[in-house]
Amino acid sequence: MDTAAPEAPLAAAHATAGVEADAGKPPLLKVQDLRVRYAVKGGLMQRTVGHFDAVAGVSFELLAGQTLALVGESGSGKTTTGKAIAQLLRRQAEVTGQALLNGQDLCTLQGAALLQARREVQLVFQDPFASLNPRMRVSELLQEGLQALCPELPPEQREARIHTLCEQVGLRRDALQRYPHEFSGGQRQRIAIARALAVQPRLLICDEPTSALDVSVQAQILNLLRELQQGLGVAYLFITHNLAVVECLADTVVVIQRGRIVEQGLVRDVTERPEHPYTRQLMAAVPRVKPGIA
Ligand SMILES: Nc1ncnc2c1ncn2[C@@H]1O[C@H](COP(=O)(O)OP(=O)(O)O)[C@@H](O)[C@H]1O
Ligand SMILES: [Mg+2]
Repeated sequence: MDTAAPEAPLAAAHATAGVEADAGKPPLLKVQDLRVRYAVKGGLMQRTVGHFDAVAGVSFELLAGQTLALVGESGSGKTTTGKAIAQLLRRQAEVTGQALLNGQDLCTLQGAALLQARREVQLVFQDPFASLNPRMRVSELLQEGLQALCPELPPEQREARIHTLCEQVGLRRDALQRYPHEFSGGQRQRIAIARALAVQPRLLICDEPTSALDVSVQAQILNLLRELQQGLGVAYLFITHNLAVVECLADTVVVIQRGRIVEQGLVRDVTERPEHPYTRQLMAAVPRVKPGIA
């Protein structure tokens, strides 16, 4: 398991052994032959003139409490895959295939069951400015999801949970009364993480959450995500184009190109012995991060 000092920034991938030990367990998330087709609009009337298959038959499994990195160059279908799993594309695209969370297909859920699933699967995006309403104080931002998805929680428990979260993500208590623009990019991402974790999801889909941050701040956020995972047991579907980040955080990796998987496996195997030329190309495109060095 993780032998790295907790303060070591960007320490090497931790629990690949855990993947092997847990190999017989049913997965938390099982994605089967996921396909997403966008309509292509054209002409003055913006009629549908064709289709574009952004995700063309993707299958993978993620165990509870672990991290699966979904990597690929820009436009390869990573965000589309994440949004399709989180059921955010129902009105925008034709989605087929299955996304089973604990055996229940998210793609077919409706009504109360869908609401419950929304609680289990949360997202953190690259740009917290876009995902955090600038007119809301941090306390309101954290309350919002809780009120919508956990209405049964009494107000005092809501308050208590928010204070605990603030501590867990490293925000000072006075942060609660402030607005998103008053924070740095890294702090804003901490707010977005706290907001996503408030409803105690089992799966957090992180879509390039550190790509817009300075390298040193990236390391802090990655370390925070790892600590939170160890404490809370939440699983991450971690979307990135950066294989160095994969080595730091993930147990398994899925490499996607033009909506199709070209390679997948344990991080150690894929990064040490990439089989597909596209994976090698992605590896060559990033400076490698040595264990323990930011
Ligand atoms: N709403 C949309 N309508 C049509 N095409 C889209 C839409 N969203 C994304 N695409 C296209 O789907 C492909 C995959 O996009 P995306 O999932 O955002 O890739 P990535 O996250 O890997 O950069 C891209 O070619 C993109 O232009
Ligand atoms: Mg994307």
